[in-house]
Formats: sequence, structure tokens, C-alpha cells
Amino acid sequence: LYDTLGAEACTHIINQAEISLVICDKIVKVKALLDRIKETPNLRKVVLVEEPSAEIRESAASHKIDLISFSELEALGEQKPQEPKPCKPDDLCVLCYTSGTTGLPKGAMLTHKGTMATVVAAAAILKPGGIDISPEDTLISYLPLAHSYERLLECYCVLNGARIGFFQGDVKLLMDDIKELQPTLFPSVPRLLNRVYDKVMTQLNEGSSIKRKLFNMAIASKENELKKSIIRNDSLWDKVVFKKIQAGLGGKVKLITTGSAPLSPKVLHFLRCVVGCPVVEGYGQTESHAICSVTLVGDPDTGNVGPPLPCCQIKLADVEEMNYYAKDDKGEVCIKGPNVFLGYYRDQAKTDEALDKDGWLHTGDIGQWLENGTLKIIDRKKNIFKLAQGEYIAPEKIENVYVRSQLVAQVFVHGESLKSSLVGVVVPDPDVLPNWAKTKLNLTQSMEELCSNADVKKEILADMTKYGKAGGLHSFEQVKDIFLYPELFSVENGLLTPTFKAKRHELKVMFKPQIDEMYKNLA
Ligand SMILES: *[C@@H]1O[C@H](CO)[C@@H](O)[C@H](O)[C@H]1NC(C)=O
Ligand SMILES: *[C@@H]1O[C@H](CO)[C@@H](O)[C@H](O)[C@H]1NC(C)=O
Ligand SMILES: *[C@@H]1O[C@H](CO)[C@@H](O)[C@H](O)[C@H]1NC(C)=O
Repeated sequence: LYDTLGAEACTHIINQAEISLVICDKIVKVKALLDRIKETPNLRKVVLVEEPSAEIRESAASHKIDLISFSELEALGEQKPQEPKPCKPDDLCVLCYTSGTTGLPKGAMLTHKGTMATVVAAAAILKPGGIDISPEDTLISYLPLAHSYERLLECYCVLNGARIGFFQGDVKLLMDDIKELQPTLFPSVPRLLNRVYDKVMTQLNEGSSIKRKLFNMAIASKENELKKSIIRNDSLWDKVVFKKIQAGLGGKVKLITTGSAPLSPKVLHFLRCVVGCPVVEGYGQTESHAICSVTLVGDPDTGNVGPPLPCCQIKLADVEEMNYYAKDDKGEVCIKGPNVFLGYYRDQAKTDEALDKDGWLHTGDIGQWLENGTLKIIDRKKNIFKLAQGEYIAPEKIENVYVRSQLVAQVFVHGESLKSSLVGVVVPDPDVLPNWAKTKLNLTQSMEELCSNADVKKEILADMTKYGKAGGLHSFEQVKDIFLYPELFSVENGLLTPTFKAKRHELKVMFKPQIDEMYKNLA
């Protein structure tokens, strides 16, 4: 149960999966469970890793919840040892709840067979690239334990006897933990790598011009080596220029993996140059046990997600409405193999949407085959995308909230997978705006003039944010900047379909300069 899922989602999961025992790390989490205990009648036991206080024990008892500490649990186990019950390949291994796009989280049914297939297949792809792990290796664990990508990496370690070091629980202190642990395996999410990149760049820009020159020469030399698939951390440049950055990651990293959302090519390329170890990118989703393809170690390119894992087949299916055809090596990415999930727990309708009758998982991503058999992700089928931090965004849902503001006649919400925030193009209501501007801001101007007025923009954005909050939008779903456009989107000006749906592609093209400008100011 992730913290970020929210109370309603946690209750839903506990009830749907009929969970009777929950393990909590901290007392506050137990409190949160007890606060909603009436809504979760199946819940009987709570195991607390932190030492329980007298107060929380009492509170649990008053709610008829059996609270024990983790050490008590271990003592119980010692008293009553059980025979191991080996699983079979097709047994359910985990219900991995995925937050998806809208509505409540869905429980992806993942099997033991699928977990093993994915781990072994990923290892088989890494091995020819010189990546093989042993008990000498250490993984730094800081992603949510319930995340499929984290689970995959941990299985990879356990299977090979490698060590797993858990961070202290505060991302702000992660870099300290890394220095202490000196991990050899560093899983990453784009957000974190972006921060590493920004930090290095800021320091560089504040430094002397000689330093910058040296740095650029070092990067250029590394780029040349990368093109020849040479990855090393013992060149002169590593010793002179990149040593500090490598030491910041503990000094022993031999593999960086990234997944969960696309990493910007600029950052990926930069990292490959400075860290002196392979940086591979995985592609997939919870429904395919986190990955179905991984880039090859040594591929200097940043535009592909690698070949299919040896445990699955990938095909591209026609998407006529978007002009993508398999005959052109383009289409929706579909996956089949042991790593594909069994379906969503107790949700046949959603299962049928994701899995077709022949067992292909339809991902909703549009892919393209490159000549050498690697896959490139080029688009999204549904109107749903991920932001840089990995959150799903359904723009239409957000637009429907914003139009509740009287000032807003129409709105187009836009986001990009390499950015961490959303922006919007707003057409203010021509029947409301002039009067409102007069009373509120003492402005008597035309729609055009009002739309280019910074105060008007500020007020409209504030009003939208207010409605967004009231409408239950998460803060990452709120637009961070808007552009005001005085003319309604219409069928005539080509921005609406004959059934009055927004032509998102046309809107994106038309407002590209404004969107770029907004992102420039947000960066
Ligand atoms: C350099 O790479 C080697 C081999 O992967 C590794 O053992 C060593 O710790 C690395 N050194 C640094 C400073 O990252
Ligand atoms: C595959 O082809 C792409 C596009 O030509 C290239 O950039 C990439 O480096 C190649 N990857 C491999 C592993 O050959
Ligand atoms: C409104 O604006 C007009 C013209 O700019 C000005 O003369 C007037 O004093 C303003 N009224 C208020 C209440 O600020």
C-alpha cells in the first residue's frame, strides 16, 4: 500500500483483496488504518516494525485489532516453525496494485512463472554486456517496495545472492545513504537522474570558464568512446573531471537502470558519459512484470528501448484512427509470453480491455521497429500519458474540472513525458470576462487585450486551481501555467471535430510556440 495512493485507494485494496493482516513501518500508518477501520471489516491484525507505543497498542485494542511488533512476529515464527510450501509456476505470486489512469487502482495478478521469466530474461540480456551479479553486489533500494520495477530488481538480487540496502526512508537523505552503502546497482527514476544532471550543470555554470572547457572536452572524449561502445571509468578524464560525480554515487556503481517513465535523451547521454558505467533503459508496465524490453549494454543511442526480452513476443497492431500500420513497422505495442499478467483481480471488464482473446497484452503505447530489431516508442494510443515523474495524466478529465470555472469557456491541457508539469491553453468565456475584468480589475478592454494582460491571466489561473482542488485533482494534475486565447475553438477554425471534441493534435501543433514558451519559463 503506497503512501501516495490515498486513503480511498488503500481502503479499496484492503477490501477487494480481503486483506486481514497489514505490516506497517511506522505508528502513523497504523493510526491511518485505525481511523478508517469501520470501512475495512476484514482487517484483523497489524504488524508494526517500529516499536509500538503503549498508546497505539491501546488504540488498536479498542478497535479489536490485534497489534504485534515485528520482533514478536519473529518470536512466534520461531516457536511454530512451518514446512516450506513450494509454489508452482502458475501460482499467483502477488496482486500488484497499479494506480493506472483514472478511478481506483487495479490489482494486476502476477505469477511466479512471470516473475522468474522476467528476471532470468533480463539477466540474459545484461550478461553479454558484461553485467553479471554475485553476492559481492549491492542494490540500493529506495523505490516503493510494492512497485513492480523495484520487485523485479530485488528478485534479480535475491536470485543471485546479492545484497539489498534499504535507504533510511527520506529521499532528501538518499545521496548520503548511497555514499554510505556504495551500491553497485543503482535503479533510478528519471526524476532523480534529472536532479543529478541539474546539480552538476548548475555547479558547472557557476564555476570558472577553464573548468567548463575541461568538462566539455571530457564529455567530447567520452562521447567518442561511447560511439565505439567503450564504457569505462578509468580514463584520464574520469580521474580528473568525473571523479567527484562518480564518488557522489558511492564510487562503485556498475549498472544504472532506469524505467517507469521515459528519460530525456539529453540526460541519458550525459549520464553515460560521466558515470563510466552502463546506463540501460527498460520499457514495460506492471502488467508485463515491469519490463518487456531493455536496451542493450553498449548501445550509445538514446532513441530506442531495446529488443524484446527473450521471455516474450512483441507485435505491433494496426491503429487505423492514428494512421499507424503494422505493415509500416508501426502500431500499438502488444506483448505475449509468460511475463504477461493473468488479468486484474475481480475486474473482468478491465481485464478484457487489456488482454485480447489470444492472450496479447495491449499496452496503449505506439511503437516502431527499427531496422536492427530494437523498439522505439513514438506515441500513445489513448489520450493518456505519463509525466516525467511517472504519474499518469488523463487530460480530458482535468479539462472537465477546469471548465467549471465561470471564467473558462474552453481549455486544452497539455503535458509531455519529459516534463514534470502540465500547461494549458484557455479560452476565457467572452460573455463573462469583460464584466468580470471591469468589476474585479477595473479594466475595460477588448477580449484580445484582456487575454494578454498578466493580471487577468494570474486571476484565471488561480480560479482554475481553486476549482481543480475542489474537483479532487492532485497537485501534479493542476496546470502550472496557462496561455489565454481570445477565440473559441470551433469546427470552423479546425480545432474541434464535427462532434465538438477537441482535436488534440491540431491544438498541440497550433499552440506549440506558446507551449514551448510556457515550459521555458517553468524550467
Ligand atoms: C569502475 O568500474 C569498475 C567495474 O565496473 C568498478 O568495480 C569500480 O568500482 C568503478 N569505480 C568507480 C569509481 O565507479
Ligand atoms: C539500432 O538502430 C538504431 C537506429 O539506427 C541505432 O541508433 C541503435 O544504436 C541501434 N542499436 C543497436 C543495439 O544496434
Ligand atoms: C479605474 O480606471 C480608471 C481609468 O484608468 C480610473 O480613472 C479610475 O480611477 C479607476 N478606478 C478605480 C476604483 O481604481
